[in-house]
Amino acid sequence: MAHATGDLSSSDIEAYLAQHERKSMLRFITCGSVDDGKSTLIGRLLYDSKLVFEDHLAALESDSKKVGTQGGELDFALLVDGLAAEREQGITIDVAYRFFSTEKRKFIVADTPGHEQYTRNMVTGASTASLAVILIDARKGVLTQTRRHSYLVSLLGIRQIVVAVNKLDLVDYSQETFDQIEADYRAFAAEIGLHDITCIPMSALRGDNIIETSERMPWYSGSTLMHHLETVDVEDVQHEGSFRMPVQWVNRPNLDFRGFSGTIVGGTVKPGDIVRVVPSGRESSVARIVTADGDLNEAVAGQAVTITLADEIDISRGDVIAAASDPPGAADQFECHIVWMSDEPMLPGRPYLLKLGAQTVTATVAQPKYKVNVNSLEHVAARTLELNEIGVCNLSLDRPVAFDPYAINRDMGGFILIDRYTHNTVAAGLLHFALRRADNVHWQAITVDKQARSVIKGQRGCVVWLTGLSGAGKSTIANIVEQKLHAMGRHTYLLDGDNVRHGLNRDLGFTDADRVENIRRVAEVAKLMVDAGIIVIASFISPFKAERQMARELVAENEFIEVFVDSTLAVAEQRDTKGLYAKARRGELAHFTGIDSPYEAPEAPELRIDTSRSHTADIGADEIVERLRRAGVFGALSDGAQ
Ligand code: ADX
Repeated sequence: MAHATGDLSSSDIEAYLAQHERKSMLRFITCGSVDDGKSTLIGRLLYDSKLVFEDHLAALESDSKKVGTQGGELDFALLVDGLAAEREQGITIDVAYRFFSTEKRKFIVADTPGHEQYTRNMVTGASTASLAVILIDARKGVLTQTRRHSYLVSLLGIRQIVVAVNKLDLVDYSQETFDQIEADYRAFAAEIGLHDITCIPMSALRGDNIIETSERMPWYSGSTLMHHLETVDVEDVQHEGSFRMPVQWVNRPNLDFRGFSGTIVGGTVKPGDIVRVVPSGRESSVARIVTADGDLNEAVAGQAVTITLADEIDISRGDVIAAASDPPGAADQFECHIVWMSDEPMLPGRPYLLKLGAQTVTATVAQPKYKVNVNSLEHVAARTLELNEIGVCNLSLDRPVAFDPYAINRDMGGFILIDRYTHNTVAAGLLHFALRRADNVHWQAITVDKQARSVIKGQRGCVVWLTGLSGAGKSTIANIVEQKLHAMGRHTYLLDGDNVRHGLNRDLGFTDADRVENIRRVAEVAKLMVDAGIIVIASFISPFKAERQMARELVAENEFIEVFVDSTLAVAEQRDTKGLYAKARRGELAHFTGIDSPYEAPEAPELRIDTSRSHTADIGADEIVERLRRAGVFGALSDGAQ
């Protein structure tokens, strides 16, 4: 039915608006490929519910004549495939959200592409939906992609499935075909824990069983798609859960008012409720619930509000205000599902930014326990995850976050990973549970500390980190630096790439992932040595900014000196002391830095030594020693002085 207010008399308007407000909302996602007729189906829903505006319709008619594939008939796919590029290619390449409403309900439909490489779009669309319409072409039946879509929607917590068996017109509206597809689908769905399934035979193109019951399928007595969407029980998991509000903003316009603003993502809240702030664990009670339209007596999931508390307690952005009787957990290690969304594969051990609600922390992902073959649902061993792959991994954060398992609350357990340098979203993840080992491993208090160890050595521990191409001269310089320091009576240790790879890192090669792990381990070792009061000279190609930054962040600010041993590739290759460049050029050595593996030069190193030019290694080494002197690394320390 149309909802232009023009056909209402003015006296009806208030009642009409009130009814419109009260209408429930269904968010759903459509899954299927262009060929299944998905865009046509959505176009039909919008068109037949008469929500297409006149001018849009006129454009559609002329477009259909130009590019439509329906021989001059209205091509509903054109309503949905909005982008010009998509029209030309005939595919939908991103998530598009459409809003429409009928007398009974409001709808938001996420239209996502069905192509294999667009898993991430589907994940985006599905994460907020409570129902999925899965399209099946009646001529083709349950396909690999049907299984993939179903697995994804089940993983993302959608419990209600409508199987739209489309194009029945092309199989003579055969009941037998439909029954077979329904049986096949139900058998498969049970395996992945989907039980709430409604199968509807239809032709989106002809409008059969979309809005009106089709006379061409008298054997079908169930609902039309629209009727089902209008009447299906929308599970309101969020409202039923316990109160959760991630604080997006601390609102302090003046000294008399201190409110915490955010969107409620679970349960309900009333003034007087006892709440707990997580992770800090502090408790108070709700004083007021403030909105732009005045104070509320109650607020529910989905509403954006500002809450004031009875007590002055310290709360900052990212904290979660929650029901004290059933607070979320707080942890810094988890098991999770990860859907990898970047062209660059996941690098276990690399620090990424993790955003969960309003919290942003640094996170590293361990090597996957397994990845899932989304076509066969098999668990497959994996060292990393590539674009569109899904795996189960452990995750380690630099500080605890408030969370609920994704299965309980999608907002409190769904996160994204962001690359620290490009700021691209590289993955979506679903938290399963906190690792118990995080609770059971504590810091032991040690009496002799870094300071005490330093005092006895008469120096401050620190890291001199030399980075540069193979053959740039890192090891030579590192060696001279250590000799000089040793001659001065300093306590040193030289960690060298080739040497460490004979022992501690014997198991690692030169893939990006192995290099990340190489540097992660070495950085941890360097940190321990700094704690022991030693001047560590670390000499590694360390080609990636992210890992050099990680090494830096493991120690204190004044304990890390990055030295860029800079030589052009041509000069390093000409030296080729180990003959490795020649091998790499002959194609006998893969992933060689500078040849077929990248080197990201430091942007702001503490020191840069240009070894392509006249600089000798000895001068470079002197510069490093001088730098250490200026940094106050040498010299008698006394108790209490750093
Ligand atoms: S890093 O990239 O992971 O930091 P690292 O410094 O430990 O590398 O090791 C580099 C040394 O390993 C080089 O000096 C070279 O002697 C040797 N090597 C062997 N294969 C490669 C390769 N494919 N790329 C770079 N260095 C290699």
